[in-house]
Amino acid sequence: TNRTFTMLKPDAVENGHIGAILEKISASGFRIVAMKLTQMTKADAEAFYSVHNERPFFGELVEFMTRGPIVAAILEKENAVNDFRTLIGATNPADAAEGTIRKMYATSMGENAVHGSDSDENAAIEGAFHFSGREMF
Ligand code: GTP
Ligand code: MG
Repeated sequence: TNRTFTMLKPDAVENGHIGAILEKISASGFRIVAMKLTQMTKADAEAFYSVHNERPFFGELVEFMTRGPIVAAILEKENAVNDFRTLIGATNPADAAEGTIRKMYATSMGENAVHGSDSDENAAIEGAFHFSGREMF
């Protein structure tokens, strides 16, 4: 069993999709290890997405990720990182498979409803970015 980290992004929260997305995550066999409603500061988002800081969309990404609350969570399942990336679908919802969370709830490449860690190493780093040991169960 291993873990991944997710955020339901500001668009998903604004559009009232928290419940539906959590239901889908739960029904797909993920156990919630940690979860909270929180809002990232500009400095948080710049640090969290620092790997993208040279990309042309970086400013837009930081602006978007800080404009309202997010749901941050750590999830546990066999093969968590890869299975969660499959569940959310491609970055661009236009390319996302039928039935994936991004296909169902994302509106654009930028506003794509949900984040999923891309490696076990990043899952651990991203989980620790948002949660203390006492908040993980
Ligand atoms: P995350 O799970 O959020 O990390 O998405 P990803 O791994 O599918 O994509 P990637 O890490 O390459 O990009 C991170 C995020 O940057 C994406 O989820 C989008 O929100 C945003 N992003 C990526 N490409 C573009 C783009 O071309 N334009 C805009 N506006 N945002 C983008
Ligand atoms: Mg990514």
